[in-house]
Parts: sequence; structure tokens; C-alpha cells
Amino acid sequence: MNPRIFFESGQMPAIIVVTMARCLVTKIDRCNPVPRHWRNEMEKVLSTERQIARRIKTLSSAIERDFSGRELVIVAVLNGTILFLADLIRCLSLPLRLDFVAVSSYGLGTESGELVFTKELRLDVRRRDVLLVDDILDTGRTLHRVLAKVRQLKPRRIKTCVLLEKAARRTEKVRADYVGFSIPDLFVVGYGLDFAERYRNLPFIGVLHSRFYAELSSSAADEIATALNRWK
Ligand code: PRP
Repeated sequence: MNPRIFFESGQMPAIIVVTMARCLVTKIDRCNPVPRHWRNEMEKVLSTERQIARRIKTLSSAIERDFSGRELVIVAVLNGTILFLADLIRCLSLPLRLDFVAVSSYGLGTESGELVFTKELRLDVRRRDVLLVDDILDTGRTLHRVLAKVRQLKPRRIKTCVLLEKAARRTEKVRADYVGFSIPDLFVVGYGLDFAERYRNLPFIGVLHSRFYAELSSSAADEIATALNRWK
């Protein structure tokens, strides 16, 4: 029986609707297979290279519209933004200048957990239009801290752009004006995002496999724990 007949008559049984939806989800999963080389470590691909590129085009159109006729100062937060930033600015035809900041939760003489700037802005943003770019908005501590710092420098306007946002873990009252993808609370790596400084080079955004943690030797686990303590 042709399912269109059911659709058109409005009599599609629920079981068929559910089965068709399941098939569609399976088909979508198959569209985003984990590349062979990464199958051991990645549970799944959250966003493919193509999906990211498409989304960045949409973001850049919105940014160009909002800042039309203006010159931008793009302030990117190191290190995770590298790939996103490189692709985003190549889609922007506005005149722009680039600068970087880096923050870390470690530092000499600081309280544990306090965010300190390990790289400061060099460009003058006073009375300028600023676009602040980060790879992920998670708890919001980084964006909140960097926004406060840039606002003190009295830009004309400041907007924020993140590739990913995880609403589930937000502790600070901060939002991004341009968001690539809103994602669930998963451990994501790739396309600039790291785990103990690895995986930044993946062209896609992937979810790290839980099996991967279980297979780690204790020395590798120690190395990763040390790196995480240092960088988070
Ligand atoms: C990551 C990411 C964001 C920040 C977001 O940086 O690049 O800057 O965490 O998290 P938050 O919203 O909880 O503050 P990370 O410190 O891992 O450094 P990295 O960019 O060098 O990977």
C-alpha cells in the first residue's frame, strides 16, 4: 500500500508513522558516519564538515547584515576558535581586523578557578564594532569574563558568536548573539575543540567514545588528568 494514500486520507496508523520516523533517524545517522580512522575514539559525528560549512555561511550572512557598512574588530578566544575563526572570516566580506585573547583558570598567585588573561588584546577597540568569537559557550565563565573585560574598553557595539552552546551547564548569565549549533551535554571534540590538547585537527565535531576512556592506560590517564587540571 502506498503510504501517500494514508497521508492524504489522514488515516496513517500510528505504528507506520513511528516506523517511518525511526527509518528517517537511522538514515540521518548513516549520513554522518564516523570516518574510519576515528572509529575507535569517536562515538558519533555530531556535525560534519559540510554541515559546519553550511551553518557558518548562514552565521556570516547574519553578521554581515547586522554590521553592514561598519568595520569590525574580531576578538577571538584562543585556542579552540582556530578552525571556526578561519572559516568564518573567509565568509565575511566586511572590512575587519583580528585580535586574540587567551584566558586560563591557572596562574601565579591566583585563587584556584579564577580566570586570568594569559594573552591580552593589542588592538584599540574604543568606539569600534566588536565581534567576540569563541568555539563553545559552556558554563559561560569564559565569555562572561572576556565580555566584561572588552566592555571596559568602551567599544561602540559588541556582539558574541560561538560555534557551539551547551545550555545545560550554564552557570553565568551570558548569551551569544550568533550560535552555530545548540548541543546536548556531550563531550565533544574536533574542529578546534580538544581533549587534553588532542583532536583539534578533526574536520568534524565528534563525541568522544566512553570506551575510549576505559581503554586508557593509567599513565595516559595521568597525563590527561594533568593536562585537564592545567587547562581547565
Ligand atoms: C574552552 C572553550 C571556551 C571555554 C568555554 O576553552 O574554548 O573558551 O572552554 O567554557 P566555559 O563556558 O565553561 O567557560 P579551554 O579553557 O578548554 O581552552 P582552549 O580554547 O584552549 O581549548
